[in-house]
Amino acid sequence: MDETSLIKQAFSARKNAYAPYSDFTVGAALLCSDGTLYFGANIENAAYSPSLCAERAAFAKAIGDGQREFSAIAVVGGKAGLGAGQIGLAYPCGVCRQWMAEFCQGDFKIIVAAAEDDFKVYLLKELLPHGFSPQSLF
Ligand code: THU
Repeated sequence: MDETSLIKQAFSARKNAYAPYSDFTVGAALLCSDGTLYFGANIENAAYSPSLCAERAAFAKAIGDGQREFSAIAVVGGKAGLGAGQIGLAYPCGVCRQWMAEFCQGDFKIIVAAAEDDFKVYLLKELLPHGFSPQSLF
């Protein structure tokens, strides 16, 4: 699957965000190595700290379904009501990068997009250099 298609899916996932407190809605489309797609949107909570990012929502669904190998994720986010071309790039937070490091290799692709034709592609090892991963324990 190419970057543009994955970004389109992330924009679609963003519609399901539940973000009444920040009014910042995020969508993620996660591509598994076997080609399966999973979607996530941020889910906030009145107690604030239990809120869940879109990326981890997508990973949790995939991992719960038994998926363990991933190739790429597309992430889009911005103020609710602003669409493609109106939002900036929303980079994965540190906790989400750490989740990625648990299940993904350094060459996992992270696509951050403001529109289908306006995006940047990073590798996990670029966004989380010198991270702590399962390999660190051995
Ligand atoms: N958020 C994400 O969904 N992913 C990130 O990587 C960063 C932040 C969400 C959490 C919260 O619901 C809203 O964006 C504002 O921080």
